[in-house]
Amino acid sequence: MARILDGQDPKQLQEAVQALCAGRLVAFPTETVYGLGANAGDDAAVRRIFEAKGRPANHPLIVHVPNAEACLTLASAVPPAAQKLMQSFWPGPLTVIVPRRGEAAAAAAGGQDTIGLRCPAHPVARALLEACAQQGVLGLAGPSANVFGRVSPTTAQHVAEEFGDDVLVLDGGPCEVGIESTIVDCSRGHAVLLRPGMITRAEIEAALGEPLLDRDDAAPRASGTLEAHYAPRAKVRLMSADILQTALQVLGESPPRLALYSRTVRAPRGMLHRRMPDDAAQAAQQLFAALREFDAEGAELVWVESPPPAPEWDGVRDRLVRAAAS
Ligand code: TXA
Ligand code: MG
Repeated sequence: MARILDGQDPKQLQEAVQALCAGRLVAFPTETVYGLGANAGDDAAVRRIFEAKGRPANHPLIVHVPNAEACLTLASAVPPAAQKLMQSFWPGPLTVIVPRRGEAAAAAAGGQDTIGLRCPAHPVARALLEACAQQGVLGLAGPSANVFGRVSPTTAQHVAEEFGDDVLVLDGGPCEVGIESTIVDCSRGHAVLLRPGMITRAEIEAALGEPLLDRDDAAPRASGTLEAHYAPRAKVRLMSADILQTALQVLGESPPRLALYSRTVRAPRGMLHRRMPDDAAQAAQQLFAALREFDAEGAELVWVESPPPAPEWDGVRDRLVRAAAS
């Protein structure tokens, strides 16, 4: 188990800063999910992230910065679209992909000529990034603090369970947003939505003053592909409320390892069940913790009611579709 530090305690925060300066890994809270942090300027430390996660070294990591000015040391240019998005949504749950500067954060970028930058809003993350900047650490590489392909952690406890005692975890409480940041690629002339999150497409387009392209419409990139899944151990199957209802009726008696995660469909007596909130923001906040709880309770199959088609559900729907794809 990784050791947990209290992010509110200045002494323990300082211990985290010293550990990062010494090339160690420190998981830290953000408003979206916990990140597994290393000094982005220390390639050896960044390689430890890939080892700890079991993540292929050519998968680029997001670099967290204390403010927009800090981007200038990492980006070779900040295109107008990125500037608009940073102004509108930073600090907050938005990552921009921009062209990378020379040799800056080469390992973190996983060999790409671009880099993903994000300025998080969580007060503990901000305090950590500012204290690191004072020690000359200009950014923290930080993928979600889970083993590769697994569900992202939204509490310090989740992180501690995934890693050994060479990782420190700075506790900042449960994450408020609950799913990972929205990612917009601004490095290719036209802004492309790479990963939906809780900032909606309409909000981004309003800030940009032009429509966003989808990943699939844009020319495919050679590498830098997004993770294929965010899956719990249990198999996840997504169904409309109608189909789910019928399936439950056909089933009759509920098998012991089947769990239900539904908003409108009621669970048969005795079935392991969690209710998905009616509000998209609340559903996002609880999603990953719920999937982890199904695992902890021994579910082998989770039937999930498809979220509503409304745009504020895009992020939650995206994560559920990925969880169901594995
Ligand atoms: O909310 C978040 O974004 C969290 C918190 C910790 O900040 N971080 C996170 O990181 O979700 P990660 O590494 O799990 O997901 C980042 C995604 C990856 O799928 C990666 O492929 C993509 O961002 N990415 C990062 N840099 C990129 C680049 N230069 N070009 C294309 N995709 C990139
Ligand atoms: Mg991740």
